[in-house]
Amino acid sequence: MDYGPRSIEELRRLQLERLRWTVEHTWRNVASFRAACASTGVEPTDIRTLSDVARLPFTTKSDLRAAYPFGLFAVPETEIVRIHASSGTTGTPTVVGYTRQDIDTWAGLVARSIHAAGGRAGMRAHIAYGYGLFTGGLGAHYGAEALGCTVIPMSGGQTEKQVKLIQDFRPDIIMVTPSYMLAILDEFRRQGIDPRSSSLRVGIFGAEPWSEPMRREIETAFDLTAADIYGLSEVMGPGVAQEVPGTPGLTLWEDHFLPEIVDPQTGEPLPDGAEGELVLTSLSKQAFPIIRYRTRDLTRLLPADGLPYRRLARIVGRSDDMLIIRGVNVFPTQVEEQLLKCDAFTPHFVIEITRPQRMDEVRVQVEPRPGVDAAQAERQAAVLAGLIKENIGVTARISLCPPGGLARSQGKASHVRDLRQDR
Ligand code: DLL
Repeated sequence: MDYGPRSIEELRRLQLERLRWTVEHTWRNVASFRAACASTGVEPTDIRTLSDVARLPFTTKSDLRAAYPFGLFAVPETEIVRIHASSGTTGTPTVVGYTRQDIDTWAGLVARSIHAAGGRAGMRAHIAYGYGLFTGGLGAHYGAEALGCTVIPMSGGQTEKQVKLIQDFRPDIIMVTPSYMLAILDEFRRQGIDPRSSSLRVGIFGAEPWSEPMRREIETAFDLTAADIYGLSEVMGPGVAQEVPGTPGLTLWEDHFLPEIVDPQTGEPLPDGAEGELVLTSLSKQAFPIIRYRTRDLTRLLPADGLPYRRLARIVGRSDDMLIIRGVNVFPTQVEEQLLKCDAFTPHFVIEITRPQRMDEVRVQVEPRPGVDAAQAERQAAVLAGLIKENIGVTARISLCPPGGLARSQGKASHVRDLRQDR
């Protein structure tokens, strides 16, 4: 497998060359980037070292929306061979485009990611990320094919059929969101099939935050190795960073993406090791080069180890997924971690927040596992409330739903119902 540059020196040289090309290419072809540079008085020739990237203007999601649909494309439309889009929650989708070469680069990086996770040519890969405008399905698909896998393009949904195909086609690899993997797990059990007897050995899970206890839950249930994959459509799709099992964090493919960590409030650069917002600059993209994109994902940069690339600490969540409950910052993954300490409950949950009398109230809906009796469930509910209070610092009421009562994710899970009117 070609993992790119072998030494830091070679990597930094390549990054600088590619950064200068990207800035020049974007400046020439994207009017809004040229205007943003002009207003801060920076020109492509000012980029002489990698740290000069900090002189360039940021790109935000609202810049993408303002350019809807194709305003940020940097090549003639005839060279665009693919469009993807992410719907977001607020209406106007963000649209991205790829040239033939961009698609090849992306497939190469996903192939590299699958390889890093333990996948190999000749293996069968079951893809249960959604196909369509979402980058998960097709991104994983082209990568697995490029690696030399036999691809089963199942897409999301039809959970009964997912299990049938896993049983009949005997894939080695599954690529799916961790929350949908849980729905597949439930379906194995519902059909009375021991998930440990499945052929799956490598799981490549991403597109949403998930926790260490969730990894253990899935690894134990299926007897497979789980690896975290990170990416976002604005920057490419899956395959920006990949966890190598047994090593901390996710290796960021720095030969194609230049990372920075900034203070989410002020945008000021932070040193390696400090937690802040990840900002990414693409280094090789033709159709949709992106400069200093504010991902809103909170993480830290960890030192390189083995390969010359730095690593991202597991992403705890997006700054806009962070709940502020009675002044305490809470990420849904923190609740997930506590929930998974309670073996009477399934890992499915919904956090509901209301503000009946000017004070936030939190209800966490959970589901007892089949066979757990009412008294046992009540006792564990009290334990869970205690764990949430002690470890997260908020008071939550736990409400018990009947088995199967909580909606199952078919892609990215939605764990929060924030019903506060005036937040
Ligand atoms: O979710 C791309 C993707 C597909 C990644 C399949 C991995 C696997 P978007 O729909 O644009 O693209 O959403 C990107 O999802 O900014 C993060 O907030 C979140 N996210 C993606 N991967 C992870 C991960 C795809 N491994 C947004 N851990 C990103 C935590 C993740 N959050």
